[in-house]
Amino acid sequence: MPIPTWMTDRLPDLTRDQFERWQSLLEERTGNHFSWQHRSILQAGLVRRMRELELRSYDEYLNLINEPSSHLEWTTLVENLTVRETRFFRHQPSCNVARNYLDTLLESSDRSSIEAWSVGCSTGEEAWTLAMLIHNKVSSLGRVVRFGVTATDISLEALAHARKGIYKERLVSSLEPALKERFFQKAGPARVQVVERLRERVCFARVNVLDLDRAPMRNMDLIFCQNLLIYFRRWRRIAIIEQLVKRLAPGGLLVLGPGEITNWQHPELEPVGNDQTLAFVRRKL
Ligand SMILES: C[S@@+](CC[C@H](N)C(=O)[O-])C[C@H]1O[C@@H](n2cnc3c(N)ncnc32)[C@H](O)[C@@H]1O
Repeated sequence: MPIPTWMTDRLPDLTRDQFERWQSLLEERTGNHFSWQHRSILQAGLVRRMRELELRSYDEYLNLINEPSSHLEWTTLVENLTVRETRFFRHQPSCNVARNYLDTLLESSDRSSIEAWSVGCSTGEEAWTLAMLIHNKVSSLGRVVRFGVTATDISLEALAHARKGIYKERLVSSLEPALKERFFQKAGPARVQVVERLRERVCFARVNVLDLDRAPMRNMDLIFCQNLLIYFRRWRRIAIIEQLVKRLAPGGLLVLGPGEITNWQHPELEPVGNDQTLAFVRRKL
């Protein structure tokens, strides 16, 4: 059977005007800012989806996306355009700041519950990392401490993967043997799954960080928001961080990715950690 020409023909490059129309739509709806230098990433994501839909024009696709009934198509496109790279214990210095914070919080008080939040959790590795850190700390104490981790992202596909908690075995190969033994079980050839007692602590939900003013999260003790804000313009980064601060409990810890905001301070935040981390504690009133 002959291969249809729409599958093999090279689609034209985005013109400057087309690029700007797509750029502003994506930024308005997701906050992600594509610069002209990164247009090839945007173009590749659009083309991939346009081929599936057998469309040959960027403008035609834009019209389709703008139709009120195109909600589902929009979510599919977002899957194609978001960067989801992540790892367990991705940034050790940030994990160490979280560990120290948990030590102090739980050893200097009789706290009986902890709430953490992974913002832009992708396929879940960051959320499970927080759950493992908290579980390890809590189980070393001689008292009951309940804990929960909320993990949010814009990508439904990433969240579905995260919820299952199943990963290629090689993705956990560099973890300490004690962590692997405690928190992962075999789940078929070359696959492992996060154990039930950790899965029941983590709740995944779709939240667009542009809508944080409507998000129900409150009084979080620990918030991780790493490798998400780098795709946003500075004014949006600041607006999002301010929303996160409002959702942090007094004394709570906010951990951003190093360098994700510079020359910035907040009256309620005290920087903590070291020059390899970007972390703040919300001052107690
Ligand atoms: C590079 S991953 C970072 C994953 C993890 N935080 C880490 O540091 O390993 C960025 C994640 O942010 C998500 N994201 C992008 N725009 C978003 C938005 N507007 N709201 C919520 N999540 C978003 C993407 O879907 C992706 O999963």
